[in-house]
Amino acid sequence: MLVNTKEILTEAQQGQYAVAAFNVYNLETAQAAIQVSEREGTPVIIALGERYFPTVDVEGFSAMIKAMAEKVKIPVALHLDHAYEKESIIRAIRAGFTSVMYDGSKYDLEQNIRFTKEIVEIAHMAGVSVEAEIGSVARGAFSDEEEGDGTLTDPQSAKAFVAETNVDFLAAAIGTVHGMYQGEPKIDLALLEKIREAVGIPLVLHGGSGTPEDVVKKAIELGICKVNVNTEVSMAAVSYLEKYAEKKQMAHLSIIMEEMQQAMEPVITKFVRLLSQK
Ligand code: 13P
Repeated sequence: MLVNTKEILTEAQQGQYAVAAFNVYNLETAQAAIQVSEREGTPVIIALGERYFPTVDVEGFSAMIKAMAEKVKIPVALHLDHAYEKESIIRAIRAGFTSVMYDGSKYDLEQNIRFTKEIVEIAHMAGVSVEAEIGSVARGAFSDEEEGDGTLTDPQSAKAFVAETNVDFLAAAIGTVHGMYQGEPKIDLALLEKIREAVGIPLVLHGGSGTPEDVVKKAIELGICKVNVNTEVSMAAVSYLEKYAEKKQMAHLSIIMEEMQQAMEPVITKFVRLLSQK
């Protein structure tokens, strides 16, 4: 069933586990994320980034996810990931997304508060929850996210930001990167603890891919309720396609897409089990 993202994350916060937000781009990634989560009996968040708006039929996509969600017993939420434009946020709300992320991380604190506050007012009128970010997540390898400068979140700014914007979840920048790490990950869990002490709302970890499992587990203990996962799933699909291409055999696209979905399922299962602490 389709539910509000806030409902999923409030329960996760109370139960001290996290829910994966899988970035999806097509039918196969959506089916893989929903089917694996249904099999594992865990809630799931399906996330579409604003950067796909030029190539994905947003309203059609939303209708598809809603139809898939109605067929399963687990809670499914539909989230707009990293949106920079008010127009995209309004479009997603109209299309029935259950939460939106406004990414004002490139602005200074005062501007980020001003813009985020406006988004929160609009989204809350429609019953849609809002994620926002202060600090900025850098980009590692194989990611298609925008480059961030890697500034870590300051706990006192986070406190002021949450109080003034009334945002529902906060993406905390603690050293994870979008994509795979180049070199040793430097993730500041002590900072996460300070952020959790400063704000009471569910915290979000961007850059799930490549983050060491013990760090993810500790981060969940320290208040992370949502972990975004993109690159590792993409890599599983692309590795399958590369291996297929090496065979130099013409197969039907329907078979390739089916096998590509199967290739993504183990990595999705790994994250679902890790985050649900099963
Ligand atoms: P990864 O690509 O590192 O999994 O990060 C995804 C993400 O944070 C999307 O917002």
